[in-house]
Amino acid sequence: MTQQEAEARINELRDILNQANEAYYQKADPIMSDREFDEKLRELLEIEMEFDLQTPDSPSVRIGGRPTKTFPNVQHPVPMLSLDNTYSPEELDDFDRRVKKLLGHSDFDYMVELKYDGMALRLRYEDGKLRLGATRGDGTTGDDITPNIRTIEDIPLKLADQSSGIIEVRGEAFMNIDDFARMNQQRADEGLPVFANPRNATAGTLKLQDPKIVAQRPIRYFAYDLLFEDEEPDMTQEQKLNKLEDLGLQVCEHRKACRTLEEVHRLIEKWDAERHSHPFETDGVVIKINQERYRNELGQTAKAPRWAIAYKFEAEQAVTTIDKITLQVGRLGTITPVAELDPVELAGTTVKRATLHNEDEIRRKDIRPGDQVLVEKAGEIIPQVVKVVTPEETPRGKEFTMPETCPECGSELIKLPEEVAWRCVNIECPPQVRSRIEHFASRDAMDIDGLGEQIVDQLVSENLITTYTDLYELSIKDLTPLERMGEKSAGNLINAISESKNKPFDRVLFALGIRFVGTTVARDLAGGFGNIEALVNASEEELTAIDSIGPKIAQSVRLYFDDPKNLELIERLKHHGLQLEAEKKETTSSIFEDKTFVLTGALPSLTRKQATEMIEEHGGKTTSSVSKNTDYLLAGDSAGSKLEKAQKLGVEVISEERLLEMLNSQ
Ligand code: IVH
Repeated sequence: MTQQEAEARINELRDILNQANEAYYQKADPIMSDREFDEKLRELLEIEMEFDLQTPDSPSVRIGGRPTKTFPNVQHPVPMLSLDNTYSPEELDDFDRRVKKLLGHSDFDYMVELKYDGMALRLRYEDGKLRLGATRGDGTTGDDITPNIRTIEDIPLKLADQSSGIIEVRGEAFMNIDDFARMNQQRADEGLPVFANPRNATAGTLKLQDPKIVAQRPIRYFAYDLLFEDEEPDMTQEQKLNKLEDLGLQVCEHRKACRTLEEVHRLIEKWDAERHSHPFETDGVVIKINQERYRNELGQTAKAPRWAIAYKFEAEQAVTTIDKITLQVGRLGTITPVAELDPVELAGTTVKRATLHNEDEIRRKDIRPGDQVLVEKAGEIIPQVVKVVTPEETPRGKEFTMPETCPECGSELIKLPEEVAWRCVNIECPPQVRSRIEHFASRDAMDIDGLGEQIVDQLVSENLITTYTDLYELSIKDLTPLERMGEKSAGNLINAISESKNKPFDRVLFALGIRFVGTTVARDLAGGFGNIEALVNASEEELTAIDSIGPKIAQSVRLYFDDPKNLELIERLKHHGLQLEAEKKETTSSIFEDKTFVLTGALPSLTRKQATEMIEEHGGKTTSSVSKNTDYLLAGDSAGSKLEKAQKLGVEVISEERLLEMLNSQ
């Protein structure tokens, strides 16, 4: 390679890596795999070294991802570094040799942890209170996303130990695979763009401007490092993890100190084999020197510590061919294109189909029938097409075009301007009928045991039911002629249907399948209106007075109740004895009757849950944002914008002490 060729290749690699960094960190939408990234990075480093061409702004020196502009920037007092990656046992042996050579001895052990595939977050606690939550950004400066971080249940607002001093916690925010799949399904049903994998969903969520939406997303957090600002005690990594747990943070149970490298190798093999048994995604393991003093001795490069290394598992991808593209009709009529694949083994299962999400996605990736594609399991369960890998010389199939009519019922398809999905609006369209009933019976809704996809399919095709209300009119006699349905299972199913009549009002509301009404909104509607009549008669304005309800949801709820067919369904549910009224909470007094409270900041002794329960026990209500209808703002330490708003609106601000006085003085 000549000097000129080297310069050209360096420029090319830097461009690609910068683009990849931007896609990963800013857009939370990666354009290449980690392995591909690392290979390019290594090549860049090698050429830069050979020709002495490294510059401080090269991606080989700088950690990806500049901080974004929409959040306040925050300097990290201790940089948030990255980790060097290894991909084979031999590379791990090299790391071990390097470390032992630098230290001049092998008198240490390794702490091995899983590598959680999410987004790094830094937390700062002052005297035990959460003061800051920040992203990594470029490693030196990140985004201050404290309001979003405060909504994550795994992250305590107060530590169990309130002793003075400044503590920094480092860890990973992520989503469990099931939660991710459920959230994506709901988004797809609602015609919203879906996230490619749990990591993107986490990163995308934490960069939202509205903490209320963040609060509704299932973000989890594992802590993996503890730093003390004042004095750094000589603690092992193992002790730090235990301490984090004692402080009230979540620490992953899969962690182990290993005396020898051999032990580390065996553990990696075991964890690689078990990688799909966890509820969350892991892309490898992290091997860290356990003893703090040796870590300090080894120090770090510009990008990564010398005392730790990541061992990445093989990415679970495979190449196969798309036979054809078919269309699936969802519960709310959303049309989802699906790639029918040549069956291929992937992460322990045979993959035959992969979702293509929507027309825009197909166009963006230019996916056509007959293409060879790279498929991957996103969230480990839903196979996705990563990209087309058809060789250039191979003739391609015809570009995909969306039909104008529903493939199932022939009705015309529509697409709303702000949505990505096409939709069939015929509510009698058979797959929609089936999935509405499946949704009604599902776990978070009426939870009818035994009423799965196949039974619903049979019941609908035998014309035994056309709506979920028909379920309550079924008898054992209707069921026994069905395939694989004996007297006993028929009896069990009828019992399960009948028992579902006791499910509380909010479950029924969710089960109705009103667009945009998920479990949280259903709970708020049930609590806010108390019974179905009040809800049926609520105007859009009255609906939006409820915290979690914006104009879009209010409009959808109104649309649902404006349809006489839906009102008739509700009348029939009422007739069958379903719960269409919220249970009255047992109250011990009514001193707070008709009073609305908002809670903010950290209270000195009560948790939020305890304070809310106390208020409700005495007839009061709590909501999450301050408005002119708020009677009291119960404010603790570090109350922010809510306090300002309350003061502006003249809402009475009370302390925990005052709340307890009010209760005692009755
Ligand atoms: S320790 C100095 N431990 O992986 C950096 N990191 O690829 C020390 N990660 O930025 C990081 N699981 O966000 C550590 N058990 C674990 C981890 C972990 C996931 C992430 C972390 C880091 C990235 C580097």
